[in-house]
Amino acid sequence: SYQPLIAPSILSADFARLDREIERIPAADWIHVDVMDGHFVPNLSFGAPVAKAVGEVTDKPMDCHLMIEDPARWVGDYVDAGAASITFHVEATDDPRAVADLLHSRGCRAGISLKPGTAVEPYLDLLEHVDLVLVMSVEPGFGGQSFMPEVLDKVRTLRAEIDRRGLDVLIQIDGGIDSRTIGDAASAGCDVFVAGSAVYGAPDPDAMIETLRAGAAD
Ligand code: DX5
Ligand code: ZN
Repeated sequence: SYQPLIAPSILSADFARLDREIERIPAADWIHVDVMDGHFVPNLSFGAPVAKAVGEVTDKPMDCHLMIEDPARWVGDYVDAGAASITFHVEATDDPRAVADLLHSRGCRAGISLKPGTAVEPYLDLLEHVDLVLVMSVEPGFGGQSFMPEVLDKVRTLRAEIDRRGLDVLIQIDGGIDSRTIGDAASAGCDVFVAGSAVYGAPDPDAMIETLRAGAAD
């Protein structure tokens, strides 16, 4: 049966109080950690030491989304930080297969991410080699942007290929997910829903997670 996973992004949390911000969301399935290097995207968030500190204050799977150049050089630091899954951008490396293999050799789940303008077809061969595909529904770099519904065509392509080949690969969507947009993303075939501003901008973040989960299941 369909079990949508909600992955709140701490990018929209109060960075001075990350332990308490994570304690506020017991309903979260995963904790989504957005790493930005100021080069791959025009913003800088935090790196492996902060990810490690987050991992130490939660028992939930830590899902690191690396919006960084040269991911092969850095993924080991996020494995060491305790990530359960690490997603890197296909636009940031010449050899995504090698980065995924490196993650698997370290016992970590591997995800590839596509910016809104990146076509999915060239990467369908990688589906046998990854655990997750993240379809960005905003330009990576900032929270609080508007959902881009046109990326759902890529989600539908992925859903069809994953099902046709009988693969165990999750489809994640990230950017502009809220109680209005999550239903269309779920209908297109997403499994994992990242939400930053919708969760941490809500008066009751944990209740919003349940609202999102219900919206995905509708
Ligand atoms: C954007 C990040 C997202 C961001 C989502 O580059 O990858 O995870 O935190 O924020 P919202 O949910 O506010 O669009
Ligand atoms: Zn993200």
